[in-house]
Amino acid sequence: METPYDVMAPFHASSTERDAALSLLRREDPIHWDSQNQWWLVTRHEDVREISRRPELFSSEPRGPWHVFEYHFSMQAMDGERHHRHRNVVSRAFTPRLVSTLTERAERYADEAIDALAGRRSAEFVSDLAVPVPLRIIADMLGVADGDLEQFRRWSDALIIAGGGHAEEEVLDETHHLMADFLAYLTETVEARRAHPGDDVLSRIIQAAEAGVLDDSQRLLHLEGDEVRDFALFLLVAGNETTRNGISQGMLALFEHPEEQQRLAADDTLWKTAPDEILRWTSPVRAMRRVALRDTSLRDRKILEGQSVVMVYASANRDEAVFDEPHLFRVDRSPNEHLAFGFGPHYCLGANLARMEIRTVLRRILKRLPGIRLAENGRPVPTPSALIDGLEELPVEW
Ligand code: HEM
Repeated sequence: METPYDVMAPFHASSTERDAALSLLRREDPIHWDSQNQWWLVTRHEDVREISRRPELFSSEPRGPWHVFEYHFSMQAMDGERHHRHRNVVSRAFTPRLVSTLTERAERYADEAIDALAGRRSAEFVSDLAVPVPLRIIADMLGVADGDLEQFRRWSDALIIAGGGHAEEEVLDETHHLMADFLAYLTETVEARRAHPGDDVLSRIIQAAEAGVLDDSQRLLHLEGDEVRDFALFLLVAGNETTRNGISQGMLALFEHPEEQQRLAADDTLWKTAPDEILRWTSPVRAMRRVALRDTSLRDRKILEGQSVVMVYASANRDEAVFDEPHLFRVDRSPNEHLAFGFGPHYCLGANLARMEIRTVLRRILKRLPGIRLAENGRPVPTPSALIDGLEELPVEW
């Protein structure tokens, strides 16, 4: 069947056109060959999980064109032993205590962003309210000094452009320069934390990487050379724009469902389930790719070695076979087995942190800017990307 239209084009989460196109694919052609983009689109929840749990057959290592800048250095793009080693070492730093320690800071940063709007009745939600918390939390995790925060923000923007693959040649050149500066800064930061450890995540990872950690088979695993620095870089890629988009798309979802916004404003206990429904509804990472390592088949379709298989989380998260009334946004949805954080060996390490940030920021905003809504004549501008479901702009008033 023809691709209904480019379901990977930029949309925002509530797009009914895209929803209809993805429903059609799930129903009639769940493993769909997209001849324009030369990749398989996998749209059912069950099939996305099947691919995710079989890294020996569906590799995460980048091969062939996908977007302009592939993050070869990142653990998300590793398979097998190498991934196992990285995951074991760095996951020592992602403890439940980390999330509780950072909650207080997230609250403070959200309040400071709201304080900065004192006396105003309108704002550009993305830059004023969604950017600060995820960015500052990652800066804290890396122990970035307050004085370096502005520069850190420029590097983070450069990384987003590099990953998005929609920039002009000149912008990409500039981006690659900024990336080189950022790598140099991170190299220095890692050296400084090695010499004088702090209580940040980076210091804990350096200690675990050097002392080594035991895996389930009692093997001692280390990270070496630039591997810690590369992980630090990846943290910014993985945890910044994703969470920002979860916050902005979550705000938009509440604008589009005012009765749910009112329920949340009135009943604090709903914040337990709301972040997951926001994640299911918005799928800030719209899709992830794997590459087939040998000829295989999925349902009745033959996948050839080297072909790309795109797992469309945005579709799996509306799958009628898994979710009761999937096209309804309900902040008390439970259970909620969405795949917004992926599934299997690469399951998002920052999932609890992201849930906390989305909850904290939106909760403070509903409390302190009651009646916040989409600005009159304002339009949300979706991020131009095939991989990320985000917003560039969201004009709001209250
Ligand atoms: C709403 C926010 C977020 C979303 C939607 C999200 C989504 C994802 C997804 C879908 C994956 C799996 C990729 C795959 O299977 O190929 C992933 C992996 C990962 N995420 Fe997140 N993420 C978010 C926030 C964060 C945060 C805040 C952090 C850390 C500060 C983080 C760190 C990671 C890491 C380290 C991985 C790689 C895990 C591995 O390869 O083993 N993420 N994330």
